[in-house]
Amino acid sequence: MTISRRTLGNTLYEVSEIGFGAWAIGDAWGDLVPEAQARETLHAAMDAGMNFIDTADVYGGGRSEKLIGSVLRERKDRIYVATKMGRWPHWEDTYESMEKAARDALARLGVECLDLVQLHCIPTETLMAGRVFENLEKLKGQGLIRHYGASIETIDEGLFCIRNSSAVTLQVIFNLFRQRVVRDLLQAAAANKVGVIARVPLASGLLTGKYTRTHVFNDKDHRHFNANGEMFNVGETFAGVPFEKGVAYSGKLAGILADEAPEATLAQKALRWILDHDAVSTVIPGAKSPQQALENAEASGLAPLAPATHEKLAEYYWKEIDAEVRGVY
Ligand SMILES: NC(=O)c1ccc[n+]([C@@H]2O[C@H](COP(=O)([O-])OP(=O)(O)OC[C@H]3O[C@@H](n4cnc5c(N)ncnc54)[C@H](OP(=O)(O)O)[C@@H]3O)[C@@H](O)[C@H]2O)c1
Repeated sequence: MTISRRTLGNTLYEVSEIGFGAWAIGDAWGDLVPEAQARETLHAAMDAGMNFIDTADVYGGGRSEKLIGSVLRERKDRIYVATKMGRWPHWEDTYESMEKAARDALARLGVECLDLVQLHCIPTETLMAGRVFENLEKLKGQGLIRHYGASIETIDEGLFCIRNSSAVTLQVIFNLFRQRVVRDLLQAAAANKVGVIARVPLASGLLTGKYTRTHVFNDKDHRHFNANGEMFNVGETFAGVPFEKGVAYSGKLAGILADEAPEATLAQKALRWILDHDAVSTVIPGAKSPQQALENAEASGLAPLAPATHEKLAEYYWKEIDAEVRGVY
């Protein structure tokens, strides 16, 4: 299988347009993904052509980065790893704190320089104070990181980074339940050569169409304990739509997509929809098994959706879904 590649923002990285989101393999989403399965999943993803992995220091308290590091040591291919800092307890926007976060990530990943460090949804006021960007420049100067970007919660934060920083990437929640990004952010990102990394592309699994209204998630799964934003931004769980409504929306979207690539799954078509936006550098679905990783990788080989399908999906979103999206956006 081959996965098409795209340039990541204004870097020289040619990354697979489907990358690997490594939250679920690091952290407990209910039952912990066993180490052997996590490693097998990463290898399967890379064998399928994924050369971009997104992780964070806090995923599993370092477990995700360590797993990735151990797998990197077994591979000869060039894999780009994007990590994040900003949510580890006691992290601050001082240089000392940020240097420590970078050095800890280097040790866990077992690399000499971090390919891409993203600010991890830090408070808006800290982002806009600007000290973080001065410190990231300094980390670059010290040779600890190659590039930096920001994972953000709101479109306004994204526009701020585009206008006021040298961030090369923006990581945003972008999927069929989050179409304001198309209207309000993509053009500005593309015009400034800022690469867009699309996170939560399957709305935490809802956009696979496999969940029914009565499904009960394990109480250690954020889809149980954060379903309504009880612990962190509700947008990170089901992209902010109420679960039962999301199940209904997925069914309706599957109907709109029925004539597209009949052999493809809803998950693949949902990923293809994101890829049809040129401003996107890479989409990073989480996967917990080799099968999921391979299914997601195959979305790259699908033909673009028909323009009429795009129109219908936009129409449905603005009519039915937009007003139901909760949380900062
Ligand atoms: N603040 C931030 O910066 C932030 C926040 C959230 C996520 N992220 C990043 O974005 C990545 C992706 O987001 P996400 O993992 O939260 O959500 P997601 O990609 O929308 O959904 C991932 C989940 O969907 C299910 N799934 C994936 N592929 C599937 C397939 N082919 N068939 C059936 N089910 C499938 C799996 O869970 P089940 O099998 O259990 O359903 C998987 O854990 C994360 O891994 C992380 O790297 C960043």
